[in-house]
Amino acid sequence: MTKADPKKFHIKSFGCQMNVYDGERMSEMLVDQGMTAAENSEAADLVVLNTCHIREKAVDKVYSDIGRLRRKDGSSPMIAVAGCVAQAEGKEISRRAPSVDIVVGPQAYHRLPELMETAKSGKKALDTDMPAISKFDILPTRGKQARPTAFLTVQEGCDKFCTYCVVPYTRGAEISRPWSDLVDEAKALVDGGAREITLLGQNVNAWSGEDEKGNMQGLDGLIRALDRIPGLKRIRYMTSHPNDMTDGLVAAHGDVGSLMPFLHLPVQSGSDRILKAMNRSHSVRSYLTILEQMRAVRPDIALSGDFIVGFPGETDQDFEETLQIVRDANYSQAFSFKYSPRPGTPASGMDDQIAPEVMDERLQRLQALLNEQQYAFNQQTVGRTTDILLERQGKLDGQLIGKTPWLQSLHIISPDLKIGDMVEVEIARAGPNSLTGEIKERMAA
Ligand code: SAH
Ligand code: SF4
Ligand code: F3S
Repeated sequence: MTKADPKKFHIKSFGCQMNVYDGERMSEMLVDQGMTAAENSEAADLVVLNTCHIREKAVDKVYSDIGRLRRKDGSSPMIAVAGCVAQAEGKEISRRAPSVDIVVGPQAYHRLPELMETAKSGKKALDTDMPAISKFDILPTRGKQARPTAFLTVQEGCDKFCTYCVVPYTRGAEISRPWSDLVDEAKALVDGGAREITLLGQNVNAWSGEDEKGNMQGLDGLIRALDRIPGLKRIRYMTSHPNDMTDGLVAAHGDVGSLMPFLHLPVQSGSDRILKAMNRSHSVRSYLTILEQMRAVRPDIALSGDFIVGFPGETDQDFEETLQIVRDANYSQAFSFKYSPRPGTPASGMDDQIAPEVMDERLQRLQALLNEQQYAFNQQTVGRTTDILLERQGKLDGQLIGKTPWLQSLHIISPDLKIGDMVEVEIARAGPNSLTGEIKERMAA
């Protein structure tokens, strides 16, 4: 059956911020093609599900979302499944969900318009190639930013092959985007209104490239170059791998004014035995050493991390060691997950898979400790005067929500301010998940 030429699209992104970034780039490309963005999937005649494959539930969600796109009259919009599930499952998606018209992997988005042409003729369209030419070279250049904060993917893919993880298979090998492309894109984002840029990569601190003079640079060199862009007030980056943390990047936290005091550095487990089985190639000691170095140059740095509980073979003793590294490292926020066996990964075939109720109990204990640390961190910032970048409207009248340099959400009430303003605020109160503040001074744009 042929499908009508879609005019309105809706993109739903799941998973990590790199998917959010890809979703924005796809959206810009479709607008460039003359389409308009619809408010929601009901109002769209093309729906792109930009999926995540990292844990089991993420995949189940995609299939139930596809089912929900069917309209009351039995029709459905043109459906494209993009992202990491598309890469991992490929043709299997069209088999399990016949209403899907297009399957497009994360490195093939620039081909979406051609795939739509195929789908219009009633054929199934699939592209999960990882071509040598990067999608970034083909997608249109950045348009006007509606928001004061922007993402910029600088690095993609992963060569680390942690034994539990699908990312090396879904995103492919590590690549760094060229220096000049990134500097140009950052300038375009700032010209369009961005005040804060978060540099993204599955292993963002593995970024390397030649600067305009032909000298090799690491992420710290790139950050120093972006720091010179007038109007760019804040730079962040995520996610970092402990093995790619260089002395230069640590040093940048000490002397680059716009580099925010926040570090997302996943450790996954506090047991060296489990880290080895995970193929993490760092130890508890080497992780804590990085934190010591960071805190020596930037004592107020806020630490975030990722944890997995219930990796195959994890004993009570191993888990106690995870609680211990949390106490030693001290997090301002963190993400923690139950281990989820992923098809094709070495860990999914390991003996000694952990019972779900054991995982539940461990996750609860870990999260209780992490929540306690987050609350304590928030309380400790009360009384500080700091700058806030206002990012969005709150629920109350005249309420705006912004972020502190330490990535905490802060709510203020002020009818005179607007999104995009930077204000100096005294942190007045702290809750477990957010802060409130009082305005001291409005800062120059
Ligand atoms: N590149 C980053 C993380 C990418 S995935 C890093 O290495 O730190 C984001 C997080 O998802 C991981 O840090 C890990 O905590 C979690 N994760 C990945 N695979 C998982 C799995 N199979 N089960 C549970 N959590 C997983
Ligand atoms: Fe996955 Fe490990 Fe690569 Fe992170 S470093 S993306 S956890 S394989
Ligand atoms: Fe998910 Fe793919 Fe990101 S699996 S976490 S969307 S890299």
